[in-house]
Parts: sequence; structure tokens; C-alpha cells
Amino acid sequence: MEYMTPIVKAVIAAALGFTIGILFPACSMSSRISFPYVFPFAGNISISHSCISGKDFTGNCSTIDTNGTLKIYETTNPKGAETLPPGFVVSQSDLYQHRLWGIPDEDLPNKPKYLVAFGVGYGTMKHNVNNAVKKFAISNNFTIVLFHYDGNVNGWDEFDWSKDVIHITARKQTKWWFAKRFLHPDIVAPYEYIFIWDEDLGVDNFDAEEYIKIARKHGLEISQPAVDGQGFQWRMTERKHDQEIHKQVQEREDWCTSPQLPPCAGFVEIMAPVFTRSAWRCAWHMIQNDLVHGWGLDFNVRRCVEPGHEKMGVVDAQWIKHHAIPTLLNQGQQNENTSSTAIRTRCRLEWKMFDERLAEADKAYYQLMGIPYPSSNSTNTTN
Ligand SMILES: *[C@@H]1O[C@H](CO)[C@@H](O)[C@H](O)[C@H]1NC(C)=O
Ligand SMILES: *[C@@H]1O[C@H](CO)[C@@H](O)[C@H](O)[C@H]1NC(C)=O
Ligand SMILES: *[C@@H]1O[C@H](CO)[C@@H](O)[C@H](O)[C@H]1NC(C)=O
Ligand SMILES: *[C@@H]1O[C@H](CO)[C@@H](O)[C@H](O)[C@H]1NC(C)=O
Ligand SMILES: *[C@@H]1O[C@H](CO)[C@@H](O)[C@H](O)[C@H]1NC(C)=O
Ligand SMILES: *[C@@H]1O[C@H](CO)[C@@H](O)[C@H](O)[C@H]1NC(C)=O
Repeated sequence: MEYMTPIVKAVIAAALGFTIGILFPACSMSSRISFPYVFPFAGNISISHSCISGKDFTGNCSTIDTNGTLKIYETTNPKGAETLPPGFVVSQSDLYQHRLWGIPDEDLPNKPKYLVAFGVGYGTMKHNVNNAVKKFAISNNFTIVLFHYDGNVNGWDEFDWSKDVIHITARKQTKWWFAKRFLHPDIVAPYEYIFIWDEDLGVDNFDAEEYIKIARKHGLEISQPAVDGQGFQWRMTERKHDQEIHKQVQEREDWCTSPQLPPCAGFVEIMAPVFTRSAWRCAWHMIQNDLVHGWGLDFNVRRCVEPGHEKMGVVDAQWIKHHAIPTLLNQGQQNENTSSTAIRTRCRLEWKMFDERLAEADKAYYQLMGIPYPSSNSTNTTN
């Protein structure tokens, strides 16, 4: 303000006076709920504790100091950004790639609405990955992200699409490790559907745009394409020939405690899940930082889209094949800790830890709410 003429200052002061007229009622109203508000013109410019914690106060807490400068404290801003003017706050981002020159507004003739991420290694599955990526690249509506677990990024340049996709690399990390770290819901906010896929999927009978049409039509918040072939662990993901989608199956006897619970319903596998933006926002929060294999997610992610038995399903009309080639497991020298047996042991351990944490957190929350915890059968694990 030092550089302004007195007239400009006066105009601004008038404008601020007007703003305060709006600000103040909100704050003074809360004095009825014993809010220790400090009148801004009384020479005391400290911001009250309630405003800082934002707990029992929902309005903004900005004040004007003795010199007429507005001290912004907007509690509806994202946490940590309260001192910025709300109109300037950009709380979300995207994975759109910009050019370095020209006018920013004109950088992106096309803003993809969907995102697909694959965990990949440049090895035996590279042609399979090439086929899969092409299926998504053909529609201009996908941002494509590759999570490289083998450190080989440049190899992929043999494929034309490589220069357009986003490459993220960290050795020997799983798809879920990457997803937790690089697909934060605020970062992938513009994408309506998010595919988080393995690299060993056969996509000859899969069309991504058609898939989304069907998922949207049936209101599937979490879904996967049906899997064609043999050797299923779960009947839920098996392809049915006479329908567009299915949400429920009959499992083997005693595998389901209820026909509406996993693995009979409210269930998709972690190899090729597709989330809506809002389902992913919840699912991301369910992924535990230290558990990298994703085991346990499939049995519980229904809690993000209640009722899971209605909002989760398998799309039969667009189906895939599962080659079941555990490529990440074959990275580097084999020893007693890196063998596929050791890794499967870890997967099972993670599943157990995931279930225990969730059950304990549920119990603690029930207790906090003063409600008895039901001795339920809900998170049953069958193998
Ligand atoms: C402050 O809160 C009041 C009442 O809630 C609102 O009308 C006003 O627009 C807010 N001011 C700003 C700058 O957000
Ligand atoms: C400002 O407020 C604080 C805390 O409420 C109080 O201790 C202090 O005396 C006040 N200062 C003035 C100048 O009123
Ligand atoms: C008000 O302005 C004067 C003179 O520019 C300055 O010395 C003082 O620190 C300012 N006070 C506040 C609270 O900003
Ligand atoms: C991409 O999205 C646009 C707008 O919704 C649509 O018109 C177009 O058909 C889509 N592309 C493909 C290949 O389906
Ligand atoms: C395997 O893990 C155990 C326990 O962490 C460790 O003591 C051992 O050195 C590891 N073996 C190899 C070959 O890394
Ligand atoms: C748990 O499942 C068993 C067998 O399906 C059933 O008999 C029992 O009533 C269930 N318990 C609860 C609390 O739902």
C-alpha cells in the first residue's frame, strides 16, 4: 500500500469497509456460540483460536488491521492455504502435458477425460503392453501413465505412443505403491474414470470407450471387464456370455456369508479395476502406505460405494484375458526373500494386516460413537 496515492487508498479502504460489512456479521453471529471474536478496529489484530482451528466456526475469519490491510484467513480454503484469497487457490491438478511456449490457454486442444495406468516392465510382456496401450491411445480421450518397475523407460521408445505417455519409474515397486504416490485424487481430479491395470491382460476383445459407456449406463462406480478363459479364483470375474454386465454370482458353497457380500457381489479383482473419480477418491484413502500388493482392497473397497452390490460389477460385453504372468516377481536375482513363494507369503501377510487394521479401526470408531460392535461375518476371507 506504500506506493498508492491517498485517493486510491481511500477507494480501497471504502471497498474493504464494504467487505468487512459482509465479513463481520458472519463472525459476530458466532459470538452467540461463545466465539471469542476480536473486533478488527479495536487495535487488536490477533486471529481468534476458533478461526485457526476452524472447528466451531464455518465462516471466514479474515480481519482488517489498523492500516486497512485485509489479513486473509479463509477457513473454507484447503487446509494450509487459509491465508490466500479463495479466488486464487488451485487445489486440484491433472496430468496434462503443456508446451513451453505460447499462450497457456491454447496448450491443450484436447483434455482427456479418462486415465489409464499400467504397471509395466520392458520384457516378455512388452508386445502385450503395446497392444493394451494402443487400445486406449486410439481414443484421444485417455491420459496414459506407465509405472515402470524395472527402470527401463527408454526401451519403450520403439513404440510411437511412448513420447506421448507419462512415464514414472521406481525399481521393483508395485502398481499400488505407484498409485498411492502418483495418483492422488486431487492430482487426477479431472478424470471421470480411472483404470489401474496390470500388464498381462489380453485386450483383443476390449474397447475402452464402449466399456465406459456400459459402466456409465449401469451406474458402476467400481468395475472391471470380465475375464475369459479358465482357472478362476473367483466366479465373480468370470465372463458370462449372455449379458452386458453382472453384479452378483453364486460362489462355491460357504464362500460367501451373504449373497450381497464379496466374493459373491460388491467385488472386483485388483488386476484390472476401473474407478469413477469419486470412488477413487475414497479407494485411494483405503490404500495403506506400507502395504504394497493391494491384497484385501478387493474385499473391502465396496465400502467406498455403498451399496457395493449395486454399484460394483463386471462388464461382460467388453472382456479381457488374463495371462497370469507374474513379471514383477521375476525381477533380478532370486533368493529366499525374492522368490515368488516369499512374495506370496508377503501378499497374504498384507491381506491379514489390512483386515485387522480395518476391523480394529471399525471397533474403535463404534466405541467412540458408543455403539456396540456387531459380531459380524462381513469381512470373511476364504483362502
Ligand atoms: C465471508 O463470509 C461471509 C458470510 O459467510 C460471506 O458472505 C463472504 O462472501 C465471505 N467473504 C469471503 C471473502 O469469502
Ligand atoms: C489483544 O488480545 C489479547 C488476547 O485476547 C490480549 O491479551 C491483549 O491484551 C490484547 N491487546 C490489546 C492491545 O487489546
Ligand atoms: C502500519 O503502517 C505503518 C507505517 O507504514 C507501519 O509502521 C506499521 O507497522 C503498520 N502496522 C501494521 C499493523 O501493519
Ligand atoms: C472422445 O470423446 C468425445 C467427446 O465425448 C467423443 O465425441 C469421441 O467419440 C470420443 N472418442 C472416441 C474414439 O470414442
Ligand atoms: C532375507 O531376509 C532376512 C530377514 O530380513 C535377512 O536376514 C537375509 O539376509 C535376507 N537374505 C537375503 C539373501 O537378502
Ligand atoms: C454368521 O454366519 C453364520 C453362518 O452363515 C450365521 O448362522 C450367523 O447368524 C452369522 N452371524 C451374524 C452375527 O450375522
